[in-house]
Amino acid sequence: MNSKSTKSKLDPASFVVVANRLPVDRAERPDGTADWRPSPGGLVTAFEPIMQRRHGAWVGWHGAADEELEAFEHESLTLVPVPLSSSEVEDYYEGFSNATLWPLYHDAIAPPQFHREWWETYVKVNQRFADHVATVAAEDAVVWVQDYHLQLVPQMLRRQRPDLRIGFFLHIPFPPTELYVQLPWRQQILEGLLGADLVGFQLPGGAQNFVRLVRNRLGLETQRDRIRMPDGREVLARAYPISIDAMAFHELAATEEAAERAAEIRHDLGDPRVMFLGVDRLDYTKGLLERVQAFGEAIAEGKIDPDDAVLLQLAVPSRERVDRYRQLRDDIDRMVGRINGEIARIGRAPITYLHVSYPRLEMAAIYRAADIMVVTPLRDGMNLVAKEYVACRQRDDGALVLSEFTGAARELRQAYLVNPHDINGLKDRLVEAMNDPTRNKARRMRMMRRQVFENDIEKWASTFLDDLEALNGSRAAKQVAG
Ligand code: ADP
Ligand code: F6P
Repeated sequence: MNSKSTKSKLDPASFVVVANRLPVDRAERPDGTADWRPSPGGLVTAFEPIMQRRHGAWVGWHGAADEELEAFEHESLTLVPVPLSSSEVEDYYEGFSNATLWPLYHDAIAPPQFHREWWETYVKVNQRFADHVATVAAEDAVVWVQDYHLQLVPQMLRRQRPDLRIGFFLHIPFPPTELYVQLPWRQQILEGLLGADLVGFQLPGGAQNFVRLVRNRLGLETQRDRIRMPDGREVLARAYPISIDAMAFHELAATEEAAERAAEIRHDLGDPRVMFLGVDRLDYTKGLLERVQAFGEAIAEGKIDPDDAVLLQLAVPSRERVDRYRQLRDDIDRMVGRINGEIARIGRAPITYLHVSYPRLEMAAIYRAADIMVVTPLRDGMNLVAKEYVACRQRDDGALVLSEFTGAARELRQAYLVNPHDINGLKDRLVEAMNDPTRNKARRMRMMRRQVFENDIEKWASTFLDDLEALNGSRAAKQVAG
C-alpha cells in the first residue's frame, strides 16, 4: 500500500474522527521494511466509506508501539497517528480497554479486572488523543469520538476546545446499570462521556441505561433522552444502530470474479450440498465454542450428515497478548481437532478452520458461497458480519442463524434467532435453517435484504450528524452532514 507523509501540509480539518485505531496498521514485510495492512474489526469497515465521502481527518493509533509517525495521506484519507509506548499498549489497550471495559460491557462474560495503574494510563492516553484532536481540528469543527477506548476524550476536548461540536458513539453494548456500577471509575467515565453534545449507542436499552446512571449517580436532571448539564448545556443520548455500505458489498459479491471464487471455494470444500459459515474475530464474546460444539453434536447425532454439509469457520486472531484470548484460541483448536478427528473421512473434514484475514473481495465471495451463515455471539453491540452476509446475497436465498444477544437481532427479525447458551436449541436451529423449504427462506431473506439496504452506513452517519447539528444549529456540523 502506498502512503505519503504530509504533516507539514496538514490543514485544520472541519471534520475529525478519532478512534483507537487508524484504518491501517503498521506492519513489517519479510525483508524488515515497513508496510501497512487493513486494521481488524467492524469500526474500520463502517467508517471507511463515511470518511471517503467526507474527507475529514482520522486520528488514531497505528498499531505499532514506540514509534512516532507524521500525519499522512492514505487512499485519499488524512490519517493522524497517535503514538503509544509498549507499556501504554499493555495498560491502556490490552489492560483497561480489553481486560476491564470489554468484559464488563459484554455482560461480564469473562470477569473484568480492575487495576489502578491501568486506569491511570487510560487517563493519560485519552488526554494524548484529545491533544492530537485539539491540534488538527479547525475552529467550530465537528469531532466524532469512537468507542470504549476513548470515553474520557469528549470532556478533555471540551475543556481545551469549547468551540467544537462533539459527538461520541459506543460500538459495543452499554451494560446494565448493576454491572456498570462495579467500575471503580464509574463517575469519571460518565463525566467524560457527558463532554459530548450527542452520545450515541447501538440500542435504545444502552441509551436508557446511560441516562438512568447520570440521573442516579451524578444527580443530573434528565428528560427522556436529554440531560441538562450544570453549565447549561443539553446532552442528547440516543440509539443509532450501525450498519455497512450494503451496496458496495453487494456489488463486490456480484462481480464475475467473486462468482468464480465462490464456485472454487465450494469445490475446494468438497462440493457440499450445504455450506455453513462462521466469520469472527477470535473473541470469547462471539460464541465460537458453542457454535462448533453444536455443529459437532448435530453431526454425531446424525442430524447433519457430514457427507452433505461442512462448516467453514474463519477466525482472525485478536488481542493475542490478553490471557482470555490466548486461552480461547487453545480451546477452539482443541475442540475443532477433536470433532474433525472423530468424524472426518480421508480428504474431507466436517470443519475447515482458518486463521486468515482476507481482502474484501474474497470475503464477498465467501459470503456468496455460503448457504447458512451462523452468527452466535453471547453478546455483541451490533455484528456487521450478519449484515455483510445479507448484503452479499444475489437473490432471496441463503439463511442467517443469529444470536438474540446481538444488536443485529433487533433489526434482522427474520433470521433464525437463537440463544447460543442453549446448545440443543442451537443444534435445532442449524437443522431447521438447513431443512426449511426454499419458499420460507426466500421470505425471510427478502425482508432482511430490504432492511439492510434501506438502513446503510450512509444513512446511519447522516442521521447521527444531522442530530448533532440540530442540537445547536452548528454551521460546521451542517457542512459534513452529507
Ligand atoms: P467486531 O467489530 O467485534 O470485530 P463485526 O462483526 O461488527 O465484529 O465486524 C467484523 C468485521 O471484520 C467485518 O467487517 C468482517 O468482514 C471483518 N472480518 C472478520 N473476519 C475477517 C477475515 N477473516 N478477513 C477479513 N475480514 C474479516
Ligand atoms: O467493534 C469493537 C472493536 O473493539 C472496535 O473498536 C475495533 O475496531 C474492533 O473491535 C477490533 O478490535 P481491536 O482494535 O482490539 O483489534
